[in-house]
Amino acid sequence: MKIVVIGTGYVGLVSGTCFAEIGHEVICVDYDLVKINGLIDGVMPIYEPGLEEMVVRNFARGNLKFSSNIAEAIKDAEIVIIAVGTPTNSITGKVDLSYINAAAEAIKANLGGDVIVIMKSTVPVGTCAGLSLLLNTDSKYICRMVSNPEFLREGHAIDDFLNPERIVIGSDSEVEGEIRQLYADHLKRNIPILFGNFPTAELIKYAANTALAAKVALMNEIACISERVGADITKIVEGVGLDSRIGNKFLSPGPGFGGSCFPKDTKALLQIAEEVDFEGYLIRAITKSNENHMTNIVSNISKICGDLSGKIITILGVTYKANTDDVRSSPAINIINHLLEMGAVINIYDPEGMSGAKNIWGAKINYCKDPYAAAKNSNLAVILTEWVQFKEIDYKKLSEEMLEPKIYDLRNVIDIKEPPKGIKLYKLGING
Ligand code: UDX
Repeated sequence: MKIVVIGTGYVGLVSGTCFAEIGHEVICVDYDLVKINGLIDGVMPIYEPGLEEMVVRNFARGNLKFSSNIAEAIKDAEIVIIAVGTPTNSITGKVDLSYINAAAEAIKANLGGDVIVIMKSTVPVGTCAGLSLLLNTDSKYICRMVSNPEFLREGHAIDDFLNPERIVIGSDSEVEGEIRQLYADHLKRNIPILFGNFPTAELIKYAANTALAAKVALMNEIACISERVGADITKIVEGVGLDSRIGNKFLSPGPGFGGSCFPKDTKALLQIAEEVDFEGYLIRAITKSNENHMTNIVSNISKICGDLSGKIITILGVTYKANTDDVRSSPAINIINHLLEMGAVINIYDPEGMSGAKNIWGAKINYCKDPYAAAKNSNLAVILTEWVQFKEIDYKKLSEEMLEPKIYDLRNVIDIKEPPKGIKLYKLGING
């Protein structure tokens, strides 16, 4: 099928590339000429394992193209996918739909025939119904609107796209035939597909992300109780996870959930509830719990170090999780900013997040070439991200660089059974 994808962020670029991989003809469009030219030259705007090879391969065989000319690209499209950003407006706190509306206007102005428009961005309930009306009012062509939320995780995006646990489709018109053709490769592998109306599909995305965020927030609270009563959170996670009604995923405690989805989507769901006059007590508590958890971590750091003024704190990991270069809404932002306010000097090291960190903190913190340089003369090293590289650090050598050999492990990176000698190790949920 001839597909145009508007927006070359995580969702757009990965979806477009994977649709090309499974045999469709795809043009990815973006107003950002630098990004488009980079992609044509094989330069990825994001760090995502496996993406570069797949982009280069499909670009070379001609079924993946990149363009900044939306009008030209849309003319012959059978399917247009909207995958632009939906940031939270910092003043109103609401989801900013300006990129979505601009994409819809561009589609309407440039259609060369009937088309199916698929919404892959996460949008508030009611958005697709509104766009369906907009696209079909005073238009020469019929535009069948589809809500098709995407569940891909950064770092696993390609596999999540090619092997999803389900495909969710919402629509107000007959689209099943075309959608089955679009996802033929998935459906022949018996991946479940669910059809419903617009609000059902839109709400599934928020419900899934909020449920996952709730799981993480709950285990972070249990970890704080665990360390206060002398329990071991790693065993608790195992014991709870073996109950198949709960499942063993998304139970690992850490510095708090972050990223471009969980914090934004839990807040957006609360907004949706408020708009239909429903008090979502539990949904509200998830955000509060996550913010409170980061505050607790800062106060634990100040308990370990005493007065933080002038103390050097080493931060290992600033991305919101491993296998991404994304520092957006990372718990590291909240934690480091608090430590800076308390007068601490911050040295950071992250395998992929250094350039994102420079955009956030500029000259306010020190950027180090490796974990050992980051540990130089420091009073405490804090592990915030579960990078596999951090398991390979020689912690004995690291501690020799430090003024005080203390490590606060918030991601269960260091094996408690073999704690490095001479180091005072604090672990979230055990003794942290
Ligand atoms: C998430 C959803 O998983 C995905 O389906 C959706 O489409 C987009 O949002 P992502 O933001 O890439 O994906 O990251 P994810 O792996 O879900 O982690 C989110 C946050 O939760 C991270 O900060 C991570 O460190 C934290 N987390 C996750 C934990 O602290 N413990 C866990 O056990 C799992």
